[in-house]
Amino acid sequence: MKEKKSTKVGRKLGYSVAAFFGCYAAMILLIFLMTVVNDPANWYGYLAQHSSESLSLLVSVFFLFALVYFYYLFEDFETLLKIKNIFLIFTLLFASTVICYIFGRFIHYYSRPVAMFAILAIFLLNRRQAIFLNFIFGLLLFVIDLCTNTLTASGITASGLTTQLFSSFLITFLSGTFAVFFAGSAKTRGSLLLTGVYTAVPTVILVLLFNLPEVTKDWIDYVSAVGFRILACILSGVLALALLPLFERAFNRLTVFRLRELTSTDAALLVRLKKEAPGTFNHSLIVAQLAESCAVAIGENAELARAAAYYHDVGKLKEPEGFTENQTDYNLHDEITPELSADIIRSHTKNGYDLLIANHLPKEIARVALEHHGTLPIKYFYDKAVRYSGDADLRDFSYFGPLPQTRIAAIIMISDAVEAAVRAMADRSPEQVEKICRSVIEERMDLGQFDECDITMKELSVVRLTLVEALSGVHHHRVQYPNIQFNRDRKAVNPDEEKPNG
Ligand SMILES: [Fe+2]
Ligand SMILES: [Fe+2]
Repeated sequence: MKEKKSTKVGRKLGYSVAAFFGCYAAMILLIFLMTVVNDPANWYGYLAQHSSESLSLLVSVFFLFALVYFYYLFEDFETLLKIKNIFLIFTLLFASTVICYIFGRFIHYYSRPVAMFAILAIFLLNRRQAIFLNFIFGLLLFVIDLCTNTLTASGITASGLTTQLFSSFLITFLSGTFAVFFAGSAKTRGSLLLTGVYTAVPTVILVLLFNLPEVTKDWIDYVSAVGFRILACILSGVLALALLPLFERAFNRLTVFRLRELTSTDAALLVRLKKEAPGTFNHSLIVAQLAESCAVAIGENAELARAAAYYHDVGKLKEPEGFTENQTDYNLHDEITPELSADIIRSHTKNGYDLLIANHLPKEIARVALEHHGTLPIKYFYDKAVRYSGDADLRDFSYFGPLPQTRIAAIIMISDAVEAAVRAMADRSPEQVEKICRSVIEERMDLGQFDECDITMKELSVVRLTLVEALSGVHHHRVQYPNIQFNRDRKAVNPDEEKPNG
């Protein structure tokens, strides 16, 4: 029996609470290990003497983690329903805490790459979450410094303890937040490195101001504080760059970098598509251009729309000659029954999904390949079957589904159909293109193809207008070239005069 939706959500929420407690226990264990490493000879004595601090730590970390949980519960409920997301968020917190601890404890307290967390968070999550989680991360480091022996073990003397605690929290918070804004515009892995350098500027200004009283006492300390903070910012960029691919793979996350790599024409499946199904490859390039414009117009992820469009028809690789765009003179469908033809055509969605999953492409892209024809009928072969045998079951001539589940899948469904229809048109005037876009969208609406995704009527209208505009760019009117030819002396001649022997 199919599980009720509310039961399913309740079960997933139960898992997320369990995962939250598991992550909390793991963080406490990690902080305990830090305390032992800080003072291997007398950690037990330290804990016995500082029991109230230890209790404060247990409660504070619990509330910080609870705050994360409640943030997602009220702000981004969908994230909470996927256990993988919770593990990603807390793994980021663990990894950043451990790395900061190692640098602070064994190199220099100021060399902690505190902005690394925020840089990773913006690429693996989003800007809003990155800013919130960076604040939590700053507080977490503050609580660890305040309630454990980490600061003293890192060489901070009792006299500078309070200043260091507060300045460190502020610097972690501010440099992380600056990093989020700087990293947000990074489009290549190389430019991510620069984020660390940019972050160093506001961080150094803060350090110069905070440590100003030190300059008269010990200027060497003052200069080293600035030097280590610059190093920490650069390290943040370098470490984020090194760790990002690991997180991308481990949690199958789509970052802007991974999407760009997937849409490079060197990507293995695209090379195959270009070689084995050139017609489909060219069609996919145009669909990608259209889908990207539509995604921008309705505020969707343009990079994801482009990548998903590049791969939407890879299922055709199984039998490229079964699809019009790859045929030359020979048409396979002239020799087989309409039922078999329809089976070849409709299988490309499922074949594409399987091929993409087998090649470890992100599930978001594979789902688009599976959903981009929804449950639409394959009209041409249905009509052919009816003409041959007088009757046919439409279910045998319809795609298997599922219906598009996301706005990106809906955009690609429309762009795909519009591109194919416009390509077949003799008259590509804006009026005719507008007419075809309207009929493609209306037909899909009538057939309930958008019933399971959250695209609105207004967005469908924006998509239509965007497609008309974009297609005018793709199939623009060509300039009528003048009928002039040039002879060897580079002089214009009448074409008739060039004909040999008249
Ligand atoms: Fe397709
Ligand atoms: Fe297509």
